[in-house]
Amino acid sequence: MSSLICGSFAYDTIMVFHDHFKNHILPEQVHILNVSFLVPDMRREFGGCAGNIAYNLKLLGGEGAPMGTVGTDFTPYADWMDRQGISREYLRIIDGEYTAQAYITTDQDDNQITAFHPGAMNHSHLNKVSDTAGVTLGLLSPDGRQGMIEHAEQFAEAGIPFIFDPGQGMPMFDGEDLLRFAEQASWLAFNDYEAKLMQERTGKTIEALAGQVQAIIVTRGGEGSSIFTDGREIVIPSAKAASLEDPTGCGDAYRAGLLYGLQNGMDWETTGRIASLMGAIKIEHAGTQNHRFTLDEFKARFNESFGYSF
Ligand SMILES: Nc1ncnc2c1ncn2[C@@H]1O[C@H](COP(=O)(O)OP(=O)(O)OP(=O)(O)O)[C@@H](O)[C@H]1O
Ligand SMILES: [Mg+2]
Repeated sequence: MSSLICGSFAYDTIMVFHDHFKNHILPEQVHILNVSFLVPDMRREFGGCAGNIAYNLKLLGGEGAPMGTVGTDFTPYADWMDRQGISREYLRIIDGEYTAQAYITTDQDDNQITAFHPGAMNHSHLNKVSDTAGVTLGLLSPDGRQGMIEHAEQFAEAGIPFIFDPGQGMPMFDGEDLLRFAEQASWLAFNDYEAKLMQERTGKTIEALAGQVQAIIVTRGGEGSSIFTDGREIVIPSAKAASLEDPTGCGDAYRAGLLYGLQNGMDWETTGRIASLMGAIKIEHAGTQNHRFTLDEFKARFNESFGYSF
């Protein structure tokens, strides 16, 4: 079983302003906003949903390759992927574009000002699912709008079951688009906010939508997650995290757990718990690809967390 993970690759540049934005952005002056923040702390992380999910799946020893479009500045990320042993076979470099990148400035109140440049990601439709070989399971994570629509069609045409995971890409789609994705996909994955948006835009409840697919997975941060399948809701507890460093990318880590469970024919109770533990391990580390474990260590922690082995 091999997974194809369609989605974004991005550099995330995170800067910390050691003060409060509210001391510098004055409401009576926003019509002539011209501010500069001195940011002594800065880190640059490898990110993007497809990159993150592929990284997490690799940690678990799952099989799969990401598919995405990247820019001419991708070399450091490519080197990182090579060191992790993650396939770059389905990555396409777009001439004249930068890799997607987010510039995130946070202050001491945990406010964030973010600029996101999609760059090469907007060309994601140049990659085709039909150009791949041996794919038996798909995942469609946030990417260029056209690419997401076409990749869903291509998965459906090829008879490859896939998880629709719209994430931050959700606002690009109206109710009609979302219902089409739900018809094409076998599984839908959301966080609680996205699940709410899905229900609002489609006018259908999660329970009604769950009747149309094999399962809908809804994550709720530290509160755990739910899997709606076969007319019932399976509640998955969160695993205890030793520290809460950075919640970014917990959703991606969780999705790698879903792929791993599906690839290995596991039941939803265990698949959900593997996914849940992935999210808990991720939150203990800053950045989305800085956590690391062996499969034996993961299995031991799974047993500790849930009281049985897989
Ligand atoms: N504080 C926490 N403690 C333990 N597990 C957590 C915590 N936060 C998240 N997780 C795990 O990660 C999963 C996914 O997290 P969450 O629902 O926040 O995803 P998300 O909103 O899509 O995140 P993002 O898009 O930033 O990656 C949760 O269902 C849970 O299993
Ligand atoms: Mg998410």
